Amino acid sequence: MTPDEPDRIIHADNLAVLPTLPDGGFTLIYLDPPFNTGRPQQRRSMRHVRVAEPEPEPEPEAATAPDTARPAASGTITGFAGRRYERIRGDLLRYDDRFDDYWGFLEPRLVEAWRLLADDGTLYLHLDYREAHYAKVLLDALFGRECFLNELIWAYDYGAKAKRKWPTKHDTILVYVKNPAAYWFDSTAVDREPYMAPGLVTPEKAELGKLPTDVWWHTIVSPTGREKTGYPTQKPEGILRRIVQASTREGDWVLDFFAGSGTTGAVAATLGRRFVLVDENPEAIAVMRARFANIEGVAFEEMRRD
Ligand SMILES: C[S@@+](CC[C@H](N)C(=O)[O-])C[C@H]1O[C@@H](n2cnc3c(N)ncnc32)[C@H](O)[C@@H]1O
Repeated sequence: MTPDEPDRIIHADNLAVLPTLPDGGFTLIYLDPPFNTGRPQQRRSMRHVRVAEPEPEPEPEAATAPDTARPAASGTITGFAGRRYERIRGDLLRYDDRFDDYWGFLEPRLVEAWRLLADDGTLYLHLDYREAHYAKVLLDALFGRECFLNELIWAYDYGAKAKRKWPTKHDTILVYVKNPAAYWFDSTAVDREPYMAPGLVTPEKAELGKLPTDVWWHTIVSPTGREKTGYPTQKPEGILRRIVQASTREGDWVLDFFAGSGTTGAVAATLGRRFVLVDENPEAIAVMRARFANIEGVAFEEMRRD
């Protein structure tokens, strides 16, 4: 990815685009995949039944530097850090065929994401409570636990509230780095927050505000606000702004291959970062054409299926 290339918005199934992008080209990959992938659900007669398996041979210690993904002859994946990913995957997915279907969709795309991340790069995977815990265990095995950086909680307070359980009003964003010894992270670049008890700190500190933690209170995109594009799953620019500011520098390339309304690209553009966005939905592309109409140097591309 060179500075003279245009920012790109590609209309395609992301799985067709990803192999065309260069190894290590992106400092940040933000992904907000749909839970309902549109694939038929695979009903299994053994649902919720754990199948006994022979204990595996002990694994050698993982190498300190993460290794490249190695799809084995059987088509299984060992895990980038050399751990026995496939066994963890099998054990976990047997419990929930909805998640099995979802992970089957996401896994080849995450394998590509790992390849596309620069050595100092970071992956942000935006999930909700249905997926987050399975995904954490699987990503630990796939990326290597030492590559896990954070579990961000985006808390909001909007819409109907359940009465028979605690209303679910948060999303989870899992953060993994390509190389724990080399990743880029600048917490001083992000907006600061008011102290909860400003009286407990000096007036100077209270005036400056505090660094955000891993829990981010932020409103959803207001139905009547300036940001609203009309795309149903649009995420707030404030959430993406923090991510882009902390995990990239000016001029770095950012990738979002579940782009939707293009929030990641819109934020990247205002912060002087470069971007590639991909979405297969023509409505998303139409929304992005309107959203990026005033931003120069954005190339819209079609990648047709043959
Ligand atoms: C939850 S939305 C992303 C919303 C986005 N973060 C925003 O702020 O607008 C997920 C997007 O993934 C897209 N998508 C789903 N499967 C895809 C695929 N295989 N290739 C490309 N895009 C896909 C959908 O069309 C949808 O726009």
